[in-house]
Amino acid sequence: MRRFAVLGNPVAHSRSPDIHRAFAAQHGIEIDYQRIEVALDNFPGTVRHFFNDDEGIGLNVTVPFKAQAFEMARYPSERAKRAGAANTLWMAHGHLHADNTDGLGLVHDLRRNLGWQLHGKRVLILGAGGAVRGVLDPLLAETPADITIANRTVAKAEELAEQFSDRGIAVYGTGMDTLRGPFDIIINAISAGLAGDMPALPDGLIGADTVCYDMVYGNPAEKSGTPFLAWAETHGATEWADGIGMLVEQAAESFYLWMNWRPDSKAVIRALRHPSAGD
Ligand code: ATR
Repeated sequence: MRRFAVLGNPVAHSRSPDIHRAFAAQHGIEIDYQRIEVALDNFPGTVRHFFNDDEGIGLNVTVPFKAQAFEMARYPSERAKRAGAANTLWMAHGHLHADNTDGLGLVHDLRRNLGWQLHGKRVLILGAGGAVRGVLDPLLAETPADITIANRTVAKAEELAEQFSDRGIAVYGTGMDTLRGPFDIIINAISAGLAGDMPALPDGLIGADTVCYDMVYGNPAEKSGTPFLAWAETHGATEWADGIGMLVEQAAESFYLWMNWRPDSKAVIRALRHPSAGD
């Protein structure tokens, strides 16, 4: 049987096995997809061991190994190079290939599933970690009016802004307290937003038509949402969404890279949100 896995630490929370098994079922095949918790010093060894087996087809990579996955690959995609990180690995002709499907997953969810266009919009991103670096290029490819990156550690936001300012679109790096709204689209990528409270944000970020997206997602079966989405609702956002759709869309791109077949992501998003619905 074809083997796949997601490598991370921790990895117990990962929904990737459910998502990829659902894609495989749509395709009429059965796959073996495991979660593998990798010791922090054993990522390269685990990857090599996995692909030594002829049945080892593809790996997803999550925190904290995405940069190492990129560095290991003989043939990283342009997207992975720009992100300095990879979430998808596979072997071809004896060489390790890597791609980063996170940004495409985000853009597909925003545009196709939610119907939010980015072209000409003022975009605010909260956070400047690895998750933001991974999605900036695909966001810029949608030609927003500008992108503002706001972060607790201002230097990290400034560094990202500088690195991604070669696309002909203004990218600003700033701290939280100097932000001036309103923005059209606000995307949260502050990981503390999952468990803890949101950092204090200035008033006026949300205008009459602002939509809010949380790349950090909680348990899809829980309706309570995330602290960021609670903030969005309280401050009058028009629409808001968590990152479940992005999770499924980045997985769909990985599945396509491995199997050269495009799954029906919408059906899987519905099933994740409503586990009892049976689709
Ligand atoms: P990820 O891969 O999820 O991006 P990361 O690279 O560790 O993870 O980045 C975490 C992000 O959440 C950073 O932007 C971090 O801000 P700093 O760069 O200032 O550390 C942000 N973050 C985490 N906890 C936070 C908190 N309590 N308040 C504000 N920002 C926080």
